[in-house]
Amino acid sequence: MSSTKHREALEAKYRDRIAVNHNLSRRLVSFQANKDVPLYGLFSYKEGFSADMVRMFIRDYPKRTGVILDPFAGAGTTLFSAKECGFDSIGIELLPVGEFAVLARCAAERVDPDDLRRAVAQLRHSPFDALPVAGRYGFAHIPITENAFPAETERRLNAFLAYVHEHVEPGDVRTLLIFAAFSILEEISYTRKDGQFLRWDHRSGRVGAGFRKGRILTFEEALFKKFDRILADIRSYRMGAGSGAREGAAMEFRRGSCLEILPTMQDETIDLVISSPPYCNRYDYTRTYALELAFLGADNDAVMGLRQSLLSCTVENREKKDYIRRIYAANNRLNIFHDAESAFRSNKALHEVLAILGKYHRQKRLNNSGIYRMVKNYFYEHSFVIFEMARLLKRGGRIYYVNDNVRYAGEVIPVDLILSEFAEAAGLTVNTIYQLPNGKGNSSQQMGKHGRCEVRKCVYCWEK
Ligand SMILES: C[S@@+](CC[C@H](N)C(=O)[O-])C[C@H]1O[C@@H](n2cnc3c(N)ncnc32)[C@H](O)[C@@H]1O
Repeated sequence: MSSTKHREALEAKYRDRIAVNHNLSRRLVSFQANKDVPLYGLFSYKEGFSADMVRMFIRDYPKRTGVILDPFAGAGTTLFSAKECGFDSIGIELLPVGEFAVLARCAAERVDPDDLRRAVAQLRHSPFDALPVAGRYGFAHIPITENAFPAETERRLNAFLAYVHEHVEPGDVRTLLIFAAFSILEEISYTRKDGQFLRWDHRSGRVGAGFRKGRILTFEEALFKKFDRILADIRSYRMGAGSGAREGAAMEFRRGSCLEILPTMQDETIDLVISSPPYCNRYDYTRTYALELAFLGADNDAVMGLRQSLLSCTVENREKKDYIRRIYAANNRLNIFHDAESAFRSNKALHEVLAILGKYHRQKRLNNSGIYRMVKNYFYEHSFVIFEMARLLKRGGRIYYVNDNVRYAGEVIPVDLILSEFAEAAGLTVNTIYQLPNGKGNSSQQMGKHGRCEVRKCVYCWEK
């Protein structure tokens, strides 16, 4: 029997603060509710949450202006919702994928729709694919994207990129034309995003590719469908929700790791944090978004570098302890480094789980040898993110944090409660841990082996 003593004590400690919240449907907490919302649904960032959820948290906050931070900004849902509610915002995101989605959305808000319509009409009537393809604008594959597209699709994609670069001057129209191609890459490819990796259709000819994707749209079909959607969204946005945006609400987007950027920011400057970190679930954003990363010019080394910079959430992530120590030394904040490390080291429930996973690791009972290290470093790195968010928050400020619990080899990891203890160690109050009405079970593999067990899916609300 594995010991669960400390996890049970932790459950007892927070029991009265865990509350099922029927307003937080799975749809609202995921990207699903964004799908048909003008501009939010243009790029399908499946790991995102919805604008409606962000607005709900902003409405609950007593102040009507201020600064909202998202240290894991993804495609910028928090930032654009903040702007619509009249709040300034700061977003930090590691991947250029999110950065380009944000850039394109800003272009969509600014562009003259007539200019865009004219450019699209011109494309419809010009045989752009008959033009000579200039190699330097073509899709530069990395090993994990090779053979992703049918040959004719790739030829047309490259011809389109060459046409746009050579015939459309830099500016919002050009950005949106390129964004349209960027946002259909999965649709026109033999791949499908599947959390931890890309799934490959058998027609790709890749070894082990067994999945059947059905009919794949041609490049032109997908591209012009996307142009129609962009133009329709711009029209609806201008007539509806977007018109309420406070003129001049400032939005700052910083690309890089929040582990590096947060320690450079000033104390007590943030009113609200609304964010969702990578979950401790092995999802590798650098593999699922490999096509988009290569499209944006990342070569193999760059993609591997990004993978290592992710907050540890994949089995490939190596320890970042020395790197984090250097960041804190450079920012003269070694006191915070020690406090955050101490919160990590003294967490009994966490070390109960780690001891068990460590034993299973040595006995080779975990189905991947990187799981133990990933779980340990997920929490280690998170202690710094939480201490930083606590430092940056103004008195009375709040943090809303969306995350799922996980289970490995039958051991439930109460991510919500462990991170809440870190938050308390950082001086925050755990207000409520909102649980979604139906916690999800676990992977069918886990359920078959260890029986069904509800794993909480939560939004935590911490306060300063
Ligand atoms: C759950 S997603 C957030 C999605 C976002 N809420 C949205 O609606 O688009 C987590 C994000 O954290 C990013 N990320 C992972 N490690 C990071 C790091 N060290 N610094 C900043 N961002 C990171 C991932 O690239 C991913 O976009």
